This record gives sequence, structure tokens and C-alpha cells, in this order.
Amino acid sequence: MQISPSILSADFANLESELQRISNADWAHVDVMDGHFVPNLTLGLPVVEALAKVSPIPLDCHLMVDNPAVLLDEFADAGADRCIVHVELGDPRPLFDELRARDVGVGLVLNPPTPVDTVLPYLDQIDLLLVMSVNPGWGGQAFIPDVLEKVRVARREIDAHRWPAEIEIDGGINVDTAGVAAAAGCDILVAGSALFRAPDPVAAGRAILAAAAQGRAA
Ligand code: DX5
Ligand code: ZN
Repeated sequence: MQISPSILSADFANLESELQRISNADWAHVDVMDGHFVPNLTLGLPVVEALAKVSPIPLDCHLMVDNPAVLLDEFADAGADRCIVHVELGDPRPLFDELRARDVGVGLVLNPPTPVDTVLPYLDQIDLLLVMSVNPGWGGQAFIPDVLEKVRVARREIDAHRWPAEIEIDGGINVDTAGVAAAAGCDILVAGSALFRAPDPVAAGRAILAAAAQGRAA
């Protein structure tokens, strides 16, 4: 089980030191929002480039933008280690090709209302399936348990075919929800507010991973 702290809930005036506070995590989850695909605006390429220069851990870039095709090359140049694109935008295969050509990890994400069937045709082609457990746009929202059925379906498909794709979940993950997410078959937990709003993000991350391990064992 891995953890990917979402820096959306970090102190944006001190991102380098915020990355140091989570330097034992597996990834740093970077939420890029364009004000169109989702109503919120967050950060873009210059910030990703600056983060990549100082980050002790790889950047897991979640692209909530209308037109990722025009940006992927630049994300690769900026130092993104993995880019996650939304299936709601249409056929993602040209985007996968572009990411593979640049040796950037390939992620596909679906929103809570989007049926799991939309991602099944691509599970053999990706490194990561990201299941949104809140409607994207903001940190600190409540976990939507209905999405766990999509995790179970994807888990069964991936395991049945022995595909390498991992499953990540994003939104409302904390000590109360990590267990059910792990039990449903998630490999990687994104957590924003539960980590960065805790006095000690390392301890908070450990507690979330312990809850996940308990949920998986139950
Ligand atoms: C929401 C983002 C999430 C968000 C999660 O649109 O994709 O990554 O930061 O925040 P929490 O963990 O607070 O729900
Ligand atoms: Zn995200």
C-alpha cells in the first residue's frame, strides 16, 4: 500500500518545505485545475517545474484540464513522473502514446458519476487507474462510498488478466475511510487535508496506512 499526499491542502507559500514534511511518502499528488474542466484554478506548468527541481519524491500529476493533449509534452519537460488524464474527455489512447513516448507514467481517472465501463477497455494499457471518491475541484470533501463498487470491478478485471495497473483513490481519504478503500482493492491512497491539516503529516500518513492494512486484513 502506498500513499500520495495531495499538495492541494499544503501551504502554497512554502511548497518546498511542505514537500519535506511528506518526504517519506511514495508520491506527491499534484492537482492541476484549469477553471474549465473543474471550476477551481490551482497551479500549472511553472509550479510543477519548480516542484520537480526540489521534490524528494516523484510527482503524481492529476490533470483536471479540458485539453491535456496540448500540455503533455510540457509536463514531461517540467519533470512530471506520472500524468493522470480524465476519461470523460474522450478516447485517451493518443494521450497514452504521447506519455509513453516521453517515458512518463500513464494514469487514467474517472469521476464519481462516470461508469466503470468507460475505463475497462484501457486497463491493459495504463500504469494507474485513479478512482475519484469526491467530485473533483476541492480538497476537504466527504468520501463517496458508492465508488468502491467501481474499485472492486476494476480490481477483478486487473487481477484476472494479471495486468500491471495499480488502483489509486482520491478524495476524502482519512483513518475512517482508508480501510474500506483498501478492502475494495486500492493500492495507493491520495490524502490531502487529512495529512496537511494534521500537526504531523508523517504520523497522520502512518495512521492512514495502518487503517488501510487493517481494512485489507479484515
Ligand atoms: C480533488 C483533488 C484531490 C484533493 C483531495 O479534486 O483531486 O486530490 O486534493 O483532497 P482530500 O484528501 O482533502 O479530499
Ligand atoms: Zn487529485
